[in-house]
Amino acid sequence: MCGIVGYIGKRDAYPIILNGLKRLEYRGYDSAGIALFDGNDIQLCKTKGKVANLEEKAEKEISLKGNLGIGHTRWATHGVPNDVNSHPHYSNSGDLVLIHNGIIENYGSLKKELIKRGYTFKSETDTEVLVNLIEDIQKNEDVKLGKAVQIALNQVVGAYAIALFDKKKPDEIVVAKLGSPLAIGVGDDEFFVASDASPFIEFTNNAIYLEDEEMAIIRLGRDVKVRKIKDDKLVAPYIQELQLNLEQIEKGGYEHFMLKEIFEQPSVIKDTYRGRLLADQGIVRLGGLEDHIEKFINADRIIIVACGTSWHAGLVAEYIFEDLVRIPVEVEYASEFRYRNPIISEKDVVIAISQSGETADTLAAIKLAKSKGAFVYGVCNVVGSTISRETHSGTYTHAGPEIGVASTKAFTTQITVLAMMALRLAKAKGTISKPDYMLYLRELELIPTHVEEALKTDSKIEEISAVFKDARNFLYLGRGYNFPVALEGALKLKEISYIHAEGYPAAEMKHGPIALIDEQMPVVVIAIKSDHYDKVVSNIQEIKARKGKIIAVVSKGDTVVREMADYVMEVPHTPEALTPLVTTIPLQLLSYHIAVMLGRNVDQPRNLAKSVTVE
Ligand code: G6P
Repeated sequence: MCGIVGYIGKRDAYPIILNGLKRLEYRGYDSAGIALFDGNDIQLCKTKGKVANLEEKAEKEISLKGNLGIGHTRWATHGVPNDVNSHPHYSNSGDLVLIHNGIIENYGSLKKELIKRGYTFKSETDTEVLVNLIEDIQKNEDVKLGKAVQIALNQVVGAYAIALFDKKKPDEIVVAKLGSPLAIGVGDDEFFVASDASPFIEFTNNAIYLEDEEMAIIRLGRDVKVRKIKDDKLVAPYIQELQLNLEQIEKGGYEHFMLKEIFEQPSVIKDTYRGRLLADQGIVRLGGLEDHIEKFINADRIIIVACGTSWHAGLVAEYIFEDLVRIPVEVEYASEFRYRNPIISEKDVVIAISQSGETADTLAAIKLAKSKGAFVYGVCNVVGSTISRETHSGTYTHAGPEIGVASTKAFTTQITVLAMMALRLAKAKGTISKPDYMLYLRELELIPTHVEEALKTDSKIEEISAVFKDARNFLYLGRGYNFPVALEGALKLKEISYIHAEGYPAAEMKHGPIALIDEQMPVVVIAIKSDHYDKVVSNIQEIKARKGKIIAVVSKGDTVVREMADYVMEVPHTPEALTPLVTTIPLQLLSYHIAVMLGRNVDQPRNLAKSVTVE
């Protein structure tokens, strides 16, 4: 959480940093700050609130000059969001200024030591402790800034991506990484630092992604020097050429990123299977999987670890894998898995699913599984992310940058990858008949067209949203493959509209939630044509008998549920295993419209962050 940006070069640093912070606001947005070196002194401005508040304040209060600067957008961990706790933080002398994404776990004991040595603290943050620790080492050990940072970080327990500079050496920025992402954009005698590449994409396509426990000294007129923090070894930096472009990270005429991302799904699902799925030739081929097929099909079980929406994609995968590949699957919240002493063996295969590839709990679960000898496969969206590097192999979804905090296109592209994996493995294991295999391949290829059709019901869904926007609770019900979709629908509504919603397996309703049903309660039921259709129809009757309001997701042409439901949202027909790819679309739109009608900040809902790099 938190976004960091830095610049050193010939251009004005202020607009680059400010724009960069706006692009990184998905990482946290409760306060923001900037520090610029104007040639004489550091100009620092910080404030509670969004980057737009910072912009207003900075333009009034500080000189915006300078070719060196750092900026931060915060998701609070230590200390409430207020002006004082916002980053950057000064050292006591006022010479050093630092930004930090992460948590210093032993900051309490370090702070006590520093207080004994006469240091004072203005904020409640762990970051202010770190900048003073660096200053203390710089003074006592008479070492240069880079060395002081290295010594300090060897005393720190926790996670960080940091950037700092010293006003006595304004040709240099020092950065370091452990557990939080950090990219360095390499231009023509100018350098950029950021949590991801989006802040500098219009200036350079060349980026160095630091690995964990690496630091870099970025000095004008020199190459970037990367070293290992622990043993001081120099590392030859690998400069990657980025594929990202500016258009991908802009709204493209949509009112919100979330809406843009919902509507991008037909094209990104296609991007995800392009070159991998050749239905007419009966081929599904995933580069990362081909060499490991035996591992999967001989595995005792597959364990899927993930958080949030990615966990819901994992639940869908559980149904597909067990159904088609006949391997037992367990789906675990990464945060629970890592702390419950799980039984893992070398015969297990672990699949880690993560849009950002940076989620701290998922990463820790991967490390644990690897330490027990399991083979770990990643399904990530962000290329070069930590999880994609930590796993033994994997497949990227090709959803492109997802900026809206509520995940949409990441979910459907994850399911696309997982379905392709299942089909490839089922074929290899012989658990699927040739006609079924061919049918699934053809149907998967048709999904973008079906999603497009589902998106055409947008205005109808907007009307339904207007009817229910003031409801205080929602229930979402689904069975089989669509139980995880019910969970995901409820999560979307909670996240962005702040309406309480629960997802439930439809049959479980009578074991508790049915008590909640009255004429005030909207119940969203996924009632598409499937093996469970008749059972779901019975569940709808049970709700109706208690006067609940039914909003049903139905298959095109359905007449039975249409008669019973108060409102219907239609989706095209596809085999049951692929239905989550289409049934999720109306639920995304429903939550989007309700949130807009309630005046919520759809792309940046309160208290959330897109990339959760703390436990
Ligand atoms: C956060 C985001 C969710 C996301 C979850 C897992 O909570 O707000 O949208 O599903 O993290 O993130 P990941 O990047 O690992 O998929």
